[in-house]
Amino acid sequence: MIQKLDDLINQFDNSLEQAGGVAEVLNIKAAFLGKKGKLSTILKGLKNTDPKERRVIGTKSNQLKEEIIGKIDVKLSSIEIEEINKKLNESWQDITLRESKIDSGLNNAGFHPISIIQRELEDVFLSMGYEILDGPHIEDEYHNFEALNLPRNHPARDLQDTFWFNDMEHLLRTQTSPIQIRGMETHTPPFKFVGAGKTFRCEKIDASHEFVFHQLEGMMVAENISVANLVYFLRTLLAEIFGRQVDVRLRHGFFPFVEPGFELDFKCLICNGKGCSVCKNTGWMEFLGCGMVHPNVLRTGNIDPDKYNGFAFGLGIDRLVMMRYGIDDVRHFHSGNLKFISQFKAF
Ligand code: PHE
Repeated sequence: MIQKLDDLINQFDNSLEQAGGVAEVLNIKAAFLGKKGKLSTILKGLKNTDPKERRVIGTKSNQLKEEIIGKIDVKLSSIEIEEINKKLNESWQDITLRESKIDSGLNNAGFHPISIIQRELEDVFLSMGYEILDGPHIEDEYHNFEALNLPRNHPARDLQDTFWFNDMEHLLRTQTSPIQIRGMETHTPPFKFVGAGKTFRCEKIDASHEFVFHQLEGMMVAENISVANLVYFLRTLLAEIFGRQVDVRLRHGFFPFVEPGFELDFKCLICNGKGCSVCKNTGWMEFLGCGMVHPNVLRTGNIDPDKYNGFAFGLGIDRLVMMRYGIDDVRHFHSGNLKFISQFKAF
């Protein structure tokens, strides 16, 4: 009988090895361990053996049973893993796009230089406690102009050649300043945030003009904010971007949504203020428009101008990127040319 049991386990091993699916394995289990299975059949002969041998056989058959159950479990889980892997292989999801980018040769590209600098600017502001906001490219007339103290027929509207939609109510935002209005709608002072993105003006394109360009808007509103706070944040920003202290100056500038309004320049880093071709011999680089938020704008944002005040600024990202990477023609940015973009490979 012992021999029979040994044969049984060999037989079992062989059939298990050949089994493919779960059903087959369960059938094998039944064939060996079931009520009418092979083990029971062998054990039926037990009553004819002497008690000593019976005990040995009893122990052995129990061990055998456990061995079979153990092997069945191992086989079942290996089949399960195999099936899961098969399913994953058939329907794998590309959550990073990395592999497919490499397959299709698109690994020649990286982040667009505008995105690189935009993220860098946002990081600097995040580190200074600013929130990052976003706004739509298609704006309404209210957020792009009216709420920014630019009522209909205001002559300053003509300064920005606007792409209007047929309804004359919607437009492609000409500036990121509508983010100020949207920010005030969702925040109560004190707050400070920045918001960057594409802006659109109907202009002729040349080496230094694009009709799609990029701005970063910033706004801070709290009690007792002064121009000194504004200058502090912008100087910090410049120091972070250029990796050294940079001198700045304010000139008068007109923007209907700030009062007073300024143009902020920084000392040319190429000639250190002495005058060169880059700064057109002025010694200074125009950097951004800024000023103290106009009381009308605060009121539009449901903020009491007698209690709170603040500053706002808007800087052009494209020029900064061109200076940083020595790009001499703004038209490269939207050329869709992989040769251009592959120079900024990120991985
Ligand atoms: N939106 C202005 C522009 O596009 C820049 C600006 C923003 C000026 C915020 C003042 C305050 O020219």
